[in-house]
Amino acid sequence: MPAYLQAADAAKRKPVTVPGLRRMKAHGDKIAMLTCYDASFAAHMEAVGIDVALVGDSLGNVVQGRSSTLPVTLDDIVYHTRLVRRGLAATLLIADMPFMTFRDPPTALAAAARLLSEGGAAAVKLEGGSGWVCEVIAALTAHEVPVCAHVGLTPQSVHKMGGYRMQGKTDDAAARLHAEARAVAAAGAELLVLESVPAALAGAITRELPIPTIGIGAGAECDGQVLVSYDMLGITPGHRPKFSKDFLAGRGSVREAFAAYADEVRTGRFPGPEQIAG
Ligand code: KIV
Repeated sequence: MPAYLQAADAAKRKPVTVPGLRRMKAHGDKIAMLTCYDASFAAHMEAVGIDVALVGDSLGNVVQGRSSTLPVTLDDIVYHTRLVRRGLAATLLIADMPFMTFRDPPTALAAAARLLSEGGAAAVKLEGGSGWVCEVIAALTAHEVPVCAHVGLTPQSVHKMGGYRMQGKTDDAAARLHAEARAVAAAGAELLVLESVPAALAGAITRELPIPTIGIGAGAECDGQVLVSYDMLGITPGHRPKFSKDFLAGRGSVREAFAAYADEVRTGRFPGPEQIAG
């Protein structure tokens, strides 16, 4: 068994908290986050010290076999969040808000209440950075619901974007995305996922904002990284995103793959130059 796996297994971990993530940013400790959909995977993530488990609406693609995340329902996310909760102790649990479940503050508050009280999540994640999304973030924050924002490639906007494409490539698009990142932080978001954006832009946002940034296809300068667990285990059928990596290849177990991912994120080896941003 590799030394890093033994060390993580043996460690008595303090619970990861929302304010603790900001302290990690301040100390320069990288945050290792993975998507998770069930109790067994959650238990392996817990054992190796993954900081944050996200019940992503990517479950629509990798668990339900759909071609987009749009059909995922709030009931689906509540169900999977409850399963994941049973496998976790110290790892922080975040649940995604599906398409249209945060379309206005009252709808978002009712949905978030279910994710925290029925699902056992500690925070919710929602996509977008425009004005109405910031109003929703402010309403959730005012009602003590910690929010992880998500800008850049937002899969729930697939039809508006015309496909799953890198965002923020032109100067104008980069300036808009930077403004959205500032706006969600000002509205009260505690954490920000940057998906498929140029590494230099992600780096500039990360240096400017007080809240931690978590990159996926956004280069190495973010405060942490997230991957879809099925992608980083090489079990998603078909094409793997260029920014992902098969951590199970050459290793004997899912647990070892999760441990290697956490180790590479924390030591700055993932993402490397071969994991092209975007
Ligand atoms: O749904 C999801 O899994 C996500 C992550 C890729 C950030 O939003």
